[in-house]
Amino acid sequence: MAESENLAPADPGSRASAWDPRQYARFGDHRGRPFRDLVAQVPTADPKVVVDLGCGAGDLTLTLAERWPDARVVGIDSSPEMLARARETDGAGRVEWVEAAAETWGPASLVAPVDVLVTNATLQWVPSHLRLIPTWVAALAPGGSFAMQVPANFDAPSHRLMREVAARHPRAEELRPGLERAQAVALPETYAALLLDLVSPALDAVDVWQTTYEHVLPAPEGERHPVLEWVLGTGLRPVLGVLTDEAEREAFLADYAAELELAYPRRSFGVLFPFTRTFAVAQVG
Ligand SMILES: C[S@@+](CC[C@H](N)C(=O)[O-])C[C@H]1O[C@@H](n2cnc3c(N)ncnc32)[C@H](O)[C@@H]1O
Repeated sequence: MAESENLAPADPGSRASAWDPRQYARFGDHRGRPFRDLVAQVPTADPKVVVDLGCGAGDLTLTLAERWPDARVVGIDSSPEMLARARETDGAGRVEWVEAAAETWGPASLVAPVDVLVTNATLQWVPSHLRLIPTWVAALAPGGSFAMQVPANFDAPSHRLMREVAARHPRAEELRPGLERAQAVALPETYAALLLDLVSPALDAVDVWQTTYEHVLPAPEGERHPVLEWVLGTGLRPVLGVLTDEAEREAFLADYAAELELAYPRRSFGVLFPFTRTFAVAQVG
């Protein structure tokens, strides 16, 4: 599915396996870089309230607390598994960890204006996010910032092949909705236009860009393909949620892995995994 303005509708019937913090953390260094690149562009100087929406296992949220040591930092996520890991990591209890879905969470619940709202690698799981962004921006304090990053790699072989293997699977009809739902991102210009409308007339307060990271992943012979390991922690979860029988799941993974070996060949240095991401930062007046 190409990036589209027509975000996939919410599909209450779609299933995804639970988030696995350990699997997700396997490529932590690579996944952390876009977060750091995003937060580096946040212009708000001395925020009092900082929100990380879709905070995951919390290690990146804690970097927000380090950057703004005097701020109240709130990490919000819908996954109890991810939040459990976040609470473990945050032994000092520096961050308020809140279990809530982005679709129903309201900034009013914080009983204070939000100065910085960061949402990294999460909104692709929230098909209604184009409707939600204006409500989050409206809740920002004067001078506050909204900062988001979503993957823009849904036409890359990693995701195209996932869809192709799913499409030829006997349970293709069950697999399709979950895969479509997890790809609900818009074009960069859509985010730019939305945010420019919201901050108008301060049009220089919006910064939207894309970056392609050339990830170099270790790929020892005899070990599972690293791109398969990567997507097992994220994009493949809707498939894992449907194929709960182990033999059926392993057959799917073997088929998909064979395709990945051809698309991302193992070389002396490992595997090159190009990954494009869309970033948007907006500061309100
Ligand atoms: C790919 S992880 C990103 C985690 C973290 N922001 C990072 O950059 O490492 C996506 C996170 O979004 C959370 N998530 C998915 N759908 C969500 C929703 N509707 N509301 C809140 N969190 C959601 C997941 O539980 C998961 O922790």
